[in-house]
Amino acid sequence: MVGRLRLWSGYVLFIYVTTHLLNHALGLVSLRVLEAGRYWFLIVWQSFPGQVVLYGALLLHLSLAFWALFRRRTLRLSPWEWTQLGLGALIIPFGTLHVVGTRIAYDYFGVHSGYPWVLGSLIAGTWLGVFRQFGLVFVVWIHACIGLHFAWRLRPWYRTWLPFLYAVALLVPAAGLGGAAIALRDFAELAQEPGFLRQTFEQVHAPDAAGVAALNAISDRLMAVATLLSLACLAARPLRDLWERRAGVVVLFYGDRKTVSAPAGLTVLEMSRIGGIPHASVCGGRGRCSTCRVRVGGPDRAQLPPPSAEEQKVLARVGAPENVRLACQLRPPQGRYRITPLLPAASGPRDAYRQQSQAHGGERYVAILFADIRGFTSISEGRLPYDIVFLLNRYFRATGEAVQAAGGRLDKFIGDGVMAIFGLNVEPQIACRQALDAAHRMALALGDLNEAMSDDLDQQLRIGIGLHAGPAIVGEMGFERTSSLTAIGDTVNTASRLEALTKEFAVELVVSQDLLDQAGMDLPAAARHEVEIRGRQGRLAVRAVPRAADLTTLSS
Ligand code: FES
Repeated sequence: MVGRLRLWSGYVLFIYVTTHLLNHALGLVSLRVLEAGRYWFLIVWQSFPGQVVLYGALLLHLSLAFWALFRRRTLRLSPWEWTQLGLGALIIPFGTLHVVGTRIAYDYFGVHSGYPWVLGSLIAGTWLGVFRQFGLVFVVWIHACIGLHFAWRLRPWYRTWLPFLYAVALLVPAAGLGGAAIALRDFAELAQEPGFLRQTFEQVHAPDAAGVAALNAISDRLMAVATLLSLACLAARPLRDLWERRAGVVVLFYGDRKTVSAPAGLTVLEMSRIGGIPHASVCGGRGRCSTCRVRVGGPDRAQLPPPSAEEQKVLARVGAPENVRLACQLRPPQGRYRITPLLPAASGPRDAYRQQSQAHGGERYVAILFADIRGFTSISEGRLPYDIVFLLNRYFRATGEAVQAAGGRLDKFIGDGVMAIFGLNVEPQIACRQALDAAHRMALALGDLNEAMSDDLDQQLRIGIGLHAGPAIVGEMGFERTSSLTAIGDTVNTASRLEALTKEFAVELVVSQDLLDQAGMDLPAAARHEVEIRGRQGRLAVRAVPRAADLTTLSS
């Protein structure tokens, strides 16, 4: 709830700032248009509902920022979190002058706080005032953009809209600052005329020297109050810890003899950070991404509080079993627990919501495709390294696109070979059909590639493809950034052996009868063999297909 309130109050403030900057942008046209735009800006934001929404959001956002400072258990933050926090803190010194000089000047001194007053004050004032006004735009805008990025980056539409959002993020402040700078320059030119500034200040009912001093004093006091509040929040943290210690101590064991103990009341993610244990948290602990999920064990596991409805929803989405919880939401009571983070610390948005069984190992019926270029050594002989890399990349692109178009997942490239998995999210029959479709597409793509490169190749590229289907262990394997979803087991080894058999049978494709049966297809025109596979009991029935491009005509 707190996170949502912060987000929605942030949205209101963001809309306000955006419309304010768009108003400034009218300064690119003329001072008159700039002031006319303000009329429409005020119709919205100075109406009664506009004021309630705006000041309500401001108060809420500020209070929640102080609350977050008080609640934050550790200051071990990512650089982005530090940047957002730091910019949020800078809004107060940069922004008080602006707020006091416009809103408070209007309320208490009857100043017509439009552009003539603001521009006139900047011209009559110091460079520091100009720096604070323009700097405020950078500080507020970057703070807001980082917040929105964290709030939206897991949304499915975010990647698609990213180029447009980047453009908005650059254009709005650029236009606003540009308009304000031009308006300031034009106003400064007008101010060269003797008596212009004095007349302007009279028209807007500018405060006298005592009034200006009073406004400055209010601005200083507001800054002092904000600083004191921030310091009070920081100072209250040790007291909070002392208070929470009364609730007992939580001890977490992370394996590798790493242990973290802290007062009860912290989340597991906070404790990981306190203990310097790398932990994935793509959404920054807001309970949305699921990347912080951990397996919880240990003697006191039974006394854990049940997940909230929100946590339950996220866990259900990844198919998490009962002993898996979100580290950012779980606050274990006093006791001892064994914690196993389930995703690598470097996990990114793509890992959010990946199915539990896929991420942490599970048995699944999959179809596996192995493909390899025939005689690649002789093809590459005498070629420049650049040519070989170019050729391989064209080949990888063609085969990769074929696999993806068929609905499979490209698992890895090994030298000039390719491994692909089908069936991570579909039923076995569809997986097997997808694998056959991929083999067909690969053969066609290779034909196109041979044609396109006929002038550069002494001999045509030929391919060998092995297809088999069956149960395999599917899971996230590797270390840190090198980990990825893959499959291992007898099915994978068999598919690899079938690919090797294409040489022996002098064909382009060897596919197991198991896969064809599961797909509900047959290749009566293709030769049938019973083969022995090393490490596998019994013989395996396979079909040898001379040209994978003919798969559609051979099948029944
Ligand atoms: S950090 Fe995103 S759900 Fe916990």
